[in-house]
Amino acid sequence: MSSIVCRDISVTYPPQKAPSLKEWALRRGNRAKPFQALTDVNLTIEPGEAFGIVGGNGAGKSTLLRVIAGIIPPTRGEVITRGVLAPIIELGTGFDGELSGRENIFFNGSLLGRSRAFMRRCVEEIIDFSGLTEFIDAPLRTYSTGMVARLAFAVATTIDAEIVLLDEVLAVGDASFYDRCEERIRRFHQTGATIVFVSHDLVSVRELCTRAVWIDHGRVVTIGDANEVADAYEKRMHALPAPAVATV
Ligand SMILES: Nc1ncnc2c1ncn2[C@@H]1O[C@H](COP(=O)(O)OP(=O)(O)OP(=O)(O)O)[C@@H](O)[C@H]1O
Ligand SMILES: [Mg+2]
Repeated sequence: MSSIVCRDISVTYPPQKAPSLKEWALRRGNRAKPFQALTDVNLTIEPGEAFGIVGGNGAGKSTLLRVIAGIIPPTRGEVITRGVLAPIIELGTGFDGELSGRENIFFNGSLLGRSRAFMRRCVEEIIDFSGLTEFIDAPLRTYSTGMVARLAFAVATTIDAEIVLLDEVLAVGDASFYDRCEERIRRFHQTGATIVFVSHDLVSVRELCTRAVWIDHGRVVTIGDANEVADAYEKRMHALPAPAVATV
C-alpha cells in the first residue's frame, strides 16, 4: 500500500488583500483574483521512499506539502496518506514559543499522537540527537531557526513517524546536523518510513532521494529518478535568463 497518493490535486488560493513582499514580487502585486497554485498534480509515493520536490520560487512546492499534511484542503482532487505523519513545514508549527524545548518535545509528541509515557521513554534520545542539551530548558522563543529545526527533526524521526514532510528544513541546520540528518534519513527509509522533502539544494536531493518531482507554475513537469529530475531541472534553470527583479 502506498504511503501517499495525490489524485488530480488542484489548489486555488482566495484573493489576498495584503500580500507578503515576496508574494507581491513574484506575482507583480496582482492579488485581486483567486490564484491557482497547483493544477492536476498526481503523485504516488511508496513506503521507504525519500522523495524530493524541486522547482523555482512560487512553483507550488510548499503548497503541495501543506495539502499532503492536511493543513489546507485541495480545491479539487484527493490526498490519501497512511500512517503517523509529522510535518516540519512552517517552522515552529506544532511547537509553543513559551514552553521550553523539553516541554515542546512532549507537546509535539502529543500532537503526533504519542502518549506521555511513550515520550518519556524517548525524550533523552531526542535531546541527544538534537544536540541542544545546553538549551533544552530555555523557552523555545529564544531558539534560532536552525535550533527549532533540529528539535522538530529529532522528534519526528525518533518517535517513528511513518511519514515525515520537510520544507527546506535541512538548509537551516549547520553541517554537523546535516550529516546526522543524512544518516537518519537513510536509516529511516530502510525501516520503511517515507520522507518527502522540498529543497533548493540539488546536491542533497541527489544524495538523499530515491525519486523526485519537478514542479513548475503549479504543474508537474517530470517525476522519476532523483538524479534525472535534478539534471532536467538544473538544465532548465541554467538556460533561463536572470529573473527580472521587482523594484519597490
Ligand atoms: N496563503 C496563500 N494565499 C495566497 N497565495 C498563496 C498563499 N500561499 C502561497 N501562495 C501563492 O502560491 C504560489 C505557490 O506558493 P508556494 O509557497 O507553494 O511556492 P514554493 O514553491 O514553496 O516557493 P518557494 O521556493 O519560494 O518556497 C505562489 O505564487 C504564492 O504567491
Ligand atoms: Mg516554499
